[in-house]
Amino acid sequence: MDFKNKNVLVTGGTKGIGFATAKAFINAGASVWITGRSTENLKEAASQINSPLLKTVVSDISNLTGIAVLEKAIAESGNKIDILFLNAGIAIFSPIAMTSEADFDAQFNTNVKGLYFTLQKLIPHLADGSSVLFTSSTIAQAATMYSSAYAATKGAVNKIAQIAANELADRKIRVNIVSPGPINTPGLDSVANDDVKAHLASGTALKRVGKPEEIASTILFLASDHASFITGTDIWVDGGYVNHLLK
Ligand SMILES: NC(=O)c1ccc[n+]([C@@H]2O[C@H](COP(=O)([O-])OP(=O)(O)OC[C@H]3O[C@@H](n4cnc5c(N)ncnc54)[C@H](OP(=O)(O)O)[C@@H]3O)[C@@H](O)[C@H]2O)c1
Repeated sequence: MDFKNKNVLVTGGTKGIGFATAKAFINAGASVWITGRSTENLKEAASQINSPLLKTVVSDISNLTGIAVLEKAIAESGNKIDILFLNAGIAIFSPIAMTSEADFDAQFNTNVKGLYFTLQKLIPHLADGSSVLFTSSTIAQAATMYSSAYAATKGAVNKIAQIAANELADRKIRVNIVSPGPINTPGLDSVANDDVKAHLASGTALKRVGKPEEIASTILFLASDHASFITGTDIWVDGGYVNHLLK
């Protein structure tokens, strides 16, 4: 796929799924901005990608000040965004009985409020005919124990994305969701040790966890002209995992 002369913005692009997707877009010729909270992580990602097509912005999307920094950077670039990948997210697993207000707020502020207001503030900077992608999770469709707050954030993400697809359609902007199953990233490492990962792998039809590049290739497809009649949909990239979750 060729994304030459396309401007792409990936939130949470320093690691995991966002990093793999930014790299795939760069390899396909796009100009890419990545965001994250940490200057250090952005520097590390930039040195690994090592391309003049990559730009970085420190922006914590869990608050409106951080989102304003990102909006300013995009506005000052003078470019319209062709592909907006709303991907930054955090997961904290705990039983409902033990979940702290701080953990609940951190997840909703990043995964829901952050995505919502990043989209809102960047709507004026989207090119007509652009593509907006949300990272959700198969967990939004399941009832996995200890995931209550995280899964609820992803349920909210799905609804926001579906409504955005309707609201932005008059500008020919397509909005779609990708729902990963278990994907081998630093984010997964933070909630699953090797035993848990083996358990997750055994729960998939394909008997393995996924690679971030397998989410990236789905994002590139949805952002491309090959997906020109696809909007408001949710593609599960989970190796057949969700069927097991629903049992
Ligand atoms: N991995 C999985 O198994 C899996 C499954 C389903 C869904 N997902 C979803 O996929 C997305 C990416 O997950 P991942 O596994 O790739 O996670 P990851 O490896 O932890 O990477 C998360 C990225 O988000 C950034 N980030 C976190 N909070 C942020 C904030 N407040 N503002 C800006 N950037 C922020 C991080 O950068 P800094 O740390 O530098 O800020 C990092 O670049 C998330 O939405 C996650 O919920 C993942």
